[in-house]
Amino acid sequence: MGNNRRLFLKNLGLAAAATAVMPSAFSKEVKKADFLKRTSLDLGSNDTLIRLALIGAGGMGVADAKTALSHENVEMIAVCDLYSGRLDDAKSRWGGQVFVTKNYKDILNRDDVDAVIIGTPDHWHKQISIDALKAGKHVYCEKPMVHSVEEGKDVINAWKGSGKIFMVGSQGLSSLGNEKAKELLEAGAIGEINYAEGFWARNSPEGAWQYTIPEDASPETVDWNRYIANTTKRPFDAMRFFRWRNYQDYGTGMAGDLFVHLFSSLHFITNSLGPNKVSATGGLRYWKDGREVPDVLLGMFDYPKTVQHPPFNLSLRCNFVDGTSGSTYLKIVGSKGSMDVKWDEVVLKRNANVASDDPFFAEKAKEGVNSQTDRKQIIAPLETVYTAQEGYKGAHYDHFANFFNAIRTNGTVVENPVFGFRAAAPALLCNDSYYQNKFINWDPVNMKIVKS
Ligand SMILES: NC(=O)c1ccc[n+]([C@@H]2O[C@H](COP(=O)([O-])OP(=O)(O)OC[C@H]3O[C@@H](n4cnc5c(N)ncnc54)[C@H](O)[C@@H]3O)[C@@H](O)[C@H]2O)c1
Repeated sequence: MGNNRRLFLKNLGLAAAATAVMPSAFSKEVKKADFLKRTSLDLGSNDTLIRLALIGAGGMGVADAKTALSHENVEMIAVCDLYSGRLDDAKSRWGGQVFVTKNYKDILNRDDVDAVIIGTPDHWHKQISIDALKAGKHVYCEKPMVHSVEEGKDVINAWKGSGKIFMVGSQGLSSLGNEKAKELLEAGAIGEINYAEGFWARNSPEGAWQYTIPEDASPETVDWNRYIANTTKRPFDAMRFFRWRNYQDYGTGMAGDLFVHLFSSLHFITNSLGPNKVSATGGLRYWKDGREVPDVLLGMFDYPKTVQHPPFNLSLRCNFVDGTSGSTYLKIVGSKGSMDVKWDEVVLKRNANVASDDPFFAEKAKEGVNSQTDRKQIIAPLETVYTAQEGYKGAHYDHFANFFNAIRTNGTVVENPVFGFRAAAPALLCNDSYYQNKFINWDPVNMKIVKS
């Protein structure tokens, strides 16, 4: 029995089962266990001030900035956005001294900015990331790291030559839940992984990306030419600006927006580099508001055998007309059980019918004694719920803790551009598969499409 496995049984309170047979059984029990208090994210010294700028001050950019500023010794210096209303909001939120602009290069030219948060729509991630690295800034870039697979290597190369810290913003993989799932999988808690699945279910206009358009939206308040400077030229269109997720020039559809979170967590938990086969299907079923992307999407993926894991399959779905609305999950299934993984909870379900790990029964079996007599066995709890301790600040906080700590110590982050691209690529390839109506082969090691 490996150390990890012994530790796992011990943590389940079953160390005794590994060495002796006790005259009681406690199957059917649902066991509750707190996560161990986090020690891996100790911040060390935070006495170096980090001066931040935000580029793209909409919903997520502001949420990122608020989380960033909840850390010690972090200051907001400057904000860039293309809509005047968001710049006004930034000043009232963070004070009149904050420099505001509609040109992100004004921010990159400032010596007093150490790091930038990029919260723009997806089609600007690559260029702003590269320009920021070139200007000597650390980067926290929202997911998906890039808008198309072709852009991935450019960001990776820019980062590799920069000496700067680059974190991609799939915050879930910094959660206690993801860490616990990784530890449990490694310890053999569900046996060998063979399947995983995840979904996002929504059923509201907001959930389906029909955001409110401000009344003053106009070419006077929105810098439209800058918005479309790197894509198809079109006349001003407030829908394309404020509901950018619905259009291929700016967004990456359900897969780029949501599947990417599930890929990030799954790759973190399994140490996987990604699938080698990607397929997607779906359709536009309900939200027929001129959008160019489906509102129901299913993806299927083959993960090849690697030194990190056995071969397994993944199935993902996203439904914006889902009557069960409001739920999302990631389930990892193995030969001995499964785990439902959330950011602050892991529910481990073990199958009582699988062969016992108990060495006593193993010995008896060797002696030819039938262990399946009416003698009762000790069986691990069928369901164990691991929950984060009260007061847990959450994945988003932890993700920024990791980013700031890496800046201060010249350390590493959990989601660098190589990891970020390996999570983004299969998501983006879902769009290629859907629109081209074919399977896509992907080389997750060398991060390139394999032509068929
Ligand atoms: N990590 C997460 O959980 C999470 C959640 C939501 C969104 N996101 C990501 O965050 C990004 C922003 O999404 P959102 O929901 O906040 O969108 P949003 O529309 O609310 O905000 C985007 C902002 O970027 C501004 N902008 C557009 N182009 C710009 C440019 N060239 N320079 C400066 N500003 C520009 C817009 O004016 C807008 O205010 C997306 O990439 C999205 O995928 C991540």
